[in-house]
Amino acid sequence: MGALDGKVAVITGAATGIGRASALLFAQAGARLVLTDVRDDALAPTVEAVRAAKGEVTSVIADLARAEQCPMVVDQALATWGRLDVLFNNAGVGTMVVGGTVESIDLEHWDLAQDVNVRAMYLVSRAAVPAMRAAGGGSIVNTSSVSAFRGSVGRPSHAYAASKGAVLALTHAMAASYGRDRIRVNAICPGTIRTRLTADFIARAEREAAEGRGIPLGRVGEPEDIARCALFLASDDASWISGTEIVVDGGAPSCHAEAARVGVMREIVFALEFRGVGVPVPGAEGKRRARSTATSQTLSTVLGADGIRGRVDATSGETAVLEASVQRFGDGTFVETGTIAYGGAGTIDFETIGRGWVAPAPGPGTMAGGVLWKIIRGAGGFAGAQGLITSNFTVSAAGEVVDDQFARIYLP
Ligand SMILES: NC(=O)c1ccc[n+]([C@@H]2O[C@H](COP(=O)([O-])OP(=O)(O)OC[C@H]3O[C@@H](n4cnc5c(N)ncnc54)[C@H](O)[C@@H]3O)[C@@H](O)[C@H]2O)c1
Repeated sequence: MGALDGKVAVITGAATGIGRASALLFAQAGARLVLTDVRDDALAPTVEAVRAAKGEVTSVIADLARAEQCPMVVDQALATWGRLDVLFNNAGVGTMVVGGTVESIDLEHWDLAQDVNVRAMYLVSRAAVPAMRAAGGGSIVNTSSVSAFRGSVGRPSHAYAASKGAVLALTHAMAASYGRDRIRVNAICPGTIRTRLTADFIARAEREAAEGRGIPLGRVGEPEDIARCALFLASDDASWISGTEIVVDGGAPSCHAEAARVGVMREIVFALEFRGVGVPVPGAEGKRRARSTATSQTLSTVLGADGIRGRVDATSGETAVLEASVQRFGDGTFVETGTIAYGGAGTIDFETIGRGWVAPAPGPGTMAGGVLWKIIRGAGGFAGAQGLITSNFTVSAAGEVVDDQFARIYLP
């Protein structure tokens, strides 16, 4: 017996990504489906795939940015299946379309974010609630995002974040009102999921996750990870859960806890590879040429003992890698120096602020180091940002720095 046997479910934004994965899973769980999307050509293959898997499905093309089209999806459910039990409000426009800060996003795109990501939930739900009440209850699942909880320095998306925060508030408020009708209302907050919406940075996120940075569970999310959560919330397995949200992000908030523990900073912006190399430098001057693994970057940097200035010209969108060294100076002190590279498009000028520092860290022969950076000019929201790179490194009996290390930049 399937978890949604006998139930009728509407899924918005069903053409691709999370909506498509949910359509296949809900059908497998026994639901009769109404799939809807604005993209006719992309929705048709999903409908076909559900049919091929012996799912019962009908579809309707609707632009949920247009208020008058929103009730159509509920009308279709009632006309075809005669009832409605589950509404998965999942359609959304992402940061590639509605990204930017309050200064950079234009009003039209701000409105688009709100209209598709949250106003459509209001309008489709307004049509759905009476039908669910008539059916004796139901489940509404709203797709929010981890963007509702935290901003991003690297990929600012103020309109998107505002819309996803509003989704949570709407979820809580609706749950309070409709519990007496046995209508449950919950939200899902996906982290980084491999869909069209994340095509511009998924490769970098995947690489960082595999290297143990950013996502503790070591991989980016797949649409099916969210679909399984949606199925749970839609089904009677969640019959006493309402007015809450489930974060499905591979444990990413634990990384923020780590940042808080070291007493710094609000958000991890870059996760950079750090290589500790023993470079005894007489006096306090050293010059090194930096290396970047990003093929289309030009990067030239002169390293000094007390400050580094450099420029990164990134045009490919590939992730760049930091090459840094821990230098031992004539007076026996160690100083971290290095270069910083950026994986986005555009140019960043940066300099270090003062000398790096080192301090003993737990463990034999192990030391901790750090250096403060300031980005003088940069793409996106980076200008003026300051960062701290920290690392642990080991000093051999011969006094050389050994071990490859990892470091992160934290922004205040
Ligand atoms: N991918 C992620 O990392 C991620 C993270 C957090 C939240 N989300 C949310 O998940 C939901 C699904 O996105 P996805 O990642 O599967 O990407 P997706 O682009 O594959 O799915 C979104 C769907 O919404 C549809 N849509 C967009 N505008 C519409 C409109 N005006 N009317 C009707 N349909 C419209 C699109 O055509 C698309 O099929 C979105 O709400 C998104 O904000 C995604």
